[in-house]
Amino acid sequence: MQIHLVKDYNAMSACAFDIIANTLRQKSSPVISLTTGATPAGLFKLLVKAINAGDIDISNTVFLNIDEYVGNQRDVYTVHTFMFERLYNQLTQKPKYFDMFNAGTLNKDYEILRYKHILDTYPRDIQLMGLGTNGHIGACEPGTPFDASAFCAEHKASTIESTMKLYNITREQAPTHMFTLGFREIMAADRPLLIVSGTSKADAVRRLLEEPINESCPASFLRNHPNFTLILDEEAASQLRKETLEWATR
Ligand code: PGA
Repeated sequence: MQIHLVKDYNAMSACAFDIIANTLRQKSSPVISLTTGATPAGLFKLLVKAINAGDIDISNTVFLNIDEYVGNQRDVYTVHTFMFERLYNQLTQKPKYFDMFNAGTLNKDYEILRYKHILDTYPRDIQLMGLGTNGHIGACEPGTPFDASAFCAEHKASTIESTMKLYNITREQAPTHMFTLGFREIMAADRPLLIVSGTSKADAVRRLLEEPINESCPASFLRNHPNFTLILDEEAASQLRKETLEWATR
């Protein structure tokens, strides 16, 4: 496990950008699986800038995503909308390939099988993730078994509230289900990369690092991965004990 403790949101975005940019530059056929939400928005801006400036060539890159809401693909909250607005529509270069779960599928079981096949076809160098206030990663909510494979998850109330707030939508408009990679697929990436900013995540960070690995804090399972990389800002680290901080930054 590697921990990068940085000052604030911008420094977290820059640190994540450096890690992803290095992989994009060093690998001949990089595969990066991304996440959406408030946390990676700054990182996406840095990626768009560097790619459009010609600093990074993505002509042989595959981009994937960890999860997707169940709903109309064009709705404001979908991963599809986020990815096109924040990345694909902004780029002047096209990646070799990109994919994500199909939000509007009529056959969820088929969609899960299809996407698992895509993951097998494109082994991931990096799996980027944000952290839920309840410790979730992707849509693996507390209680998800650690042997779970990709599935369609039901959101907990705190996750629905975060979606409502982020996209300014009502409870009725907010999606309740989400396709997600399970722990099996998350742990199969070469490097799971978790980015966390802000005091609202501080308790989840404390549980992730200071409590025993436990299904009530899904992100804690990442500690079992030898290349787990965690980027935290000072606010997100604000509930950690002094000894944990010393150990994390040693
Ligand atoms: P956020 O979401 O980046 O919008 O805070 C993270 C998550 O809930 O996975």
